[in-house]
Amino acid sequence: MYFESQTSDPCPRTPDFGSRIPDLGQLNDSLPVPRYSLLSMRKNGIIIAIDGPTASGKSTTAKQVAARLGYLHLNTGAMYRAFALLVRRRDHHGHDPERVHELLAGAEIGFNGKGNVVLDGVDVSREVTEPDIALLASELSVDPMVRAKLVEKQRAIGTNGGVVLEGRDIGTVVFPDAELKIFLVADASVRAERRQLEFEHMGTHIPLEELRQQLEERDKRDRERAISPLRKATDAIEVDTTNLTIEGQVERVLELAKAKMEHSSSLTV
Ligand code: DC
Repeated sequence: MYFESQTSDPCPRTPDFGSRIPDLGQLNDSLPVPRYSLLSMRKNGIIIAIDGPTASGKSTTAKQVAARLGYLHLNTGAMYRAFALLVRRRDHHGHDPERVHELLAGAEIGFNGKGNVVLDGVDVSREVTEPDIALLASELSVDPMVRAKLVEKQRAIGTNGGVVLEGRDIGTVVFPDAELKIFLVADASVRAERRQLEFEHMGTHIPLEELRQQLEERDKRDRERAISPLRKATDAIEVDTTNLTIEGQVERVLELAKAKMEHSSSLTV
């Protein structure tokens, strides 16, 4: 990929740049992320950050945990995928940074009332599930400008709490002050089987070996990129979902969330 340089914190909290994309000089000069942990500061509840590699169970868990708590679910991977879809639709392969940044400047990516990802006002939640979109999203996500724009939006949506965010860098970069951080892991072969099942539900058969290769390729790039790589935050709790049922992993996260909420309300009395 074209991006090689490195910055200390690619997505510090920034002054309001409006719809303009800040340049990296501005980003590096802006204030560092505040490390407060006053749980009572958020209006709508706690922030739950769920990170982990591809198909470790993040989406299923985050969605169900959010529904059970009456929280918002924010799938940040879907935002990177929506941008990849835009790049692909413009018949572009993401190899020219200038063109990528041009498209980024005009991209309107958000969520609708159902929690589905929306690109320029249109629900693209189905299109973004394509495997080649996932690979392109992983490639484009190494670009600091892409990350800066999407992270800014994620922070704006999540800052009042009452939200479950899933991704790769939520506990380390987007909300390092999240009250609960979960890092999900699972064996690669189990993850490939889960992905296969998901595609089968959508009527597509993809050989297991192909899926396993794709997820290993993505994991490697996501872990090794210079900016906001996938890694477990030091204060995250690791949950291995290899042998857990969906219900089991949801219950485990809910237990941890409830403990944090009780702690939070006892602090505010
Ligand atoms: O979670 P997902 O598989 O839908 O994410 C697609 C790609 O987007 C992933 O391979 C890397 C990138 N991504 C990221 O860099 N940071 C995030 N917070 C979420 C996703």
